Amino acid sequence: MIKPHGNKLINLYKSKPSEFDPKTNHVISLTNRSVSDFLLIANGAYSPIDGFMNEKDYLSVLKSMRLSNNIVWSLPIVLPISNDQRKIIKNHDEVFLSNSNGNIIGKIFISDIFKPNKSEEALSIFLTEDLKHPGVNVLKNSGDWYVSGEIEAYQLNEFQNFSDYVYDPKDLRKHFSERGWKTIVGFQTRNPIHRAHEYLLKCALEQVDGLLINPIVGDTKEDDIPAKIRMECYQSLLKNYFPKNHAMLAVYPAFMRYAGPREAVFHALTRQNYGCTHFIVGRDHAGVGNYYGTYDAQKIFDNFDYDDIKINLLFFEHAFYCKRTNSMSTSKTSIAKNEDKIFLSGTKVREMLMNGENLPIEFTRPEINQILLRYYKNESK
Ligand code: ADX
Repeated sequence: MIKPHGNKLINLYKSKPSEFDPKTNHVISLTNRSVSDFLLIANGAYSPIDGFMNEKDYLSVLKSMRLSNNIVWSLPIVLPISNDQRKIIKNHDEVFLSNSNGNIIGKIFISDIFKPNKSEEALSIFLTEDLKHPGVNVLKNSGDWYVSGEIEAYQLNEFQNFSDYVYDPKDLRKHFSERGWKTIVGFQTRNPIHRAHEYLLKCALEQVDGLLINPIVGDTKEDDIPAKIRMECYQSLLKNYFPKNHAMLAVYPAFMRYAGPREAVFHALTRQNYGCTHFIVGRDHAGVGNYYGTYDAQKIFDNFDYDDIKINLLFFEHAFYCKRTNSMSTSKTSIAKNEDKIFLSGTKVREMLMNGENLPIEFTRPEINQILLRYYKNESK
């Protein structure tokens, strides 16, 4: 079994929650995004990170994609709080944390409170300060202060609407080994699954024992298809096209940053923590609009060597349906001219579905097409 990033799988669940007294204890209410981060720190998906980052680690990640102890880490894991929240807490406080329903989910032992330079953060992480970039927009609208410190977590019931597909890293690792899978490829996605995705999955699966479809189910941008609908698509693809003994689905409770290259590194490291030995990075991974080059999310891995990142990266070129050979291909495996290629942009797909038009079978499987058509029909009501 592959070792977790940094060699130790973090687990910050506490079976006995600390006593909470609403009269005397301070509470910070977390956004859904911070709940995602909290959960993934607690269950070890972010190993070796064991709390929200202090300023030293934060600045080191921004500057060099490494924690201050030199371990590779590409995105800040921070807890933003507002000016009002800042007024009620101070360094060395122990503060309870609640989710958006007001349920207490854990505690933070505050060791540092600092004011980030958000312009610097945006430029380092997203390579732009453009507010039209969804990640920059979230950053600029989040609290002005970051509070850091170790955490403890109580039994979390987040994402229970996908309960059959919720696994902590230690559970997924156990599951893989019970199935006898020694090599596992992880697939990150935030979109309904299409034929190009499926091509990547099949090529990758030829090399390993098992496939983990691991879709983001935390917050995504407004016009992305909701996780509930996407989950129906993934289930349908697995049921109709993949052998049960070689493929499975589990949710990835993170939120999307749309940070392209840096998020690809983060996605790979966190999947290593879940026990994957391989990870797929295709075209414009975790990208949005035209902010990143098509293969920037692959090139970024040139900054690291095997001691830095143990998970094996499987890079793929832009895949399309080739009418010449009636099969999925990439420019590596096909001499198709542009007119031989069937490729639909996200905008075109949305437009067709909104008009109630079927997506071509060369683009998506009919079962997935039906799920999406139904969703768009209900949305337009
Ligand atoms: S992402 O934001 O999660 O990257 P998406 O769900 O579309 O978006 O992509 C999932 C994975 O499939 C990523 O690794 C992405 O690079 C890859 N991918 C998506 N479409 C293609 C394509 N046509 N050709 C090659 N890779 C692709």
